[in-house]
Amino acid sequence: MDVLKLKRMAAERAVDFVESGMVVGLGHGTTAIFAIRRIARLLREGRLHDILGVPCSCQVEDDARALGIPLTTLDEHPIIDLTIDGADEVDPNLNVIKGGGGALLREKIVAQASRREIIVVDESKLSPALGTRHPVPVEVVPFGWRSQLAYLESLGARVALRQTPGGDPFRTDQGNLILDCDFGPITHPARLAAQLDARAGIVGHGLFLNLVTDVIVAGRDGVRHLRR
Ligand code: A5P
Repeated sequence: MDVLKLKRMAAERAVDFVESGMVVGLGHGTTAIFAIRRIARLLREGRLHDILGVPCSCQVEDDARALGIPLTTLDEHPIIDLTIDGADEVDPNLNVIKGGGGALLREKIVAQASRREIIVVDESKLSPALGTRHPVPVEVVPFGWRSQLAYLESLGARVALRQTPGGDPFRTDQGNLILDCDFGPITHPARLAAQLDARAGIVGHGLFLNLVTDVIVAGRDGVRHLRR
């Protein structure tokens, strides 16, 4: 089965948990978009109503608007009932790495504001330890970014400045840069997260620890629902 089909199966299953009247966090990426499309379809068919979406990126805001999903902001609704988002890597404790799509900061703000954070993945994202399959994206302000690069190297990472396909530095929705940090398998994710959180100039990182309530995984044998 191709991977897009698996992504779609996981994302669409997560939409079963969306109820009319909810404020819903709309995640960024090639998996979460399937959930957004299904929500839009259910709204059109009248099977859901009074949904307000909080998009995790400018791209998602455009997509959701084009699909006719009513949107709100965290300023108007600081608490989100449920968020559906993708991830790059998921460990056995349901801690995840996110940010492959560059929306990690808004995604974490939305996740922390959510009563329930449902991550939707195909089974290739499962891993015994974070950092095994994917680097940790770290969002840094442009001012002094090379100092952050040196700091991240001092923590043991191989660091690459993320670039656009045209070879320019990738810019986040906040206008910041992303340093993709390959730490290899991370033995103490909480310690690393604290070291990243402590550094001025680093405004976000892709380690989402103790934030995820549910993971929906689609694989060749079907769809599994893992809960914290
Ligand atoms: C976006 O910044 C990311 O956190 C995505 O949620 C993550 O990279 C998963 O992306 P895909 O669903 O496209 O694999």
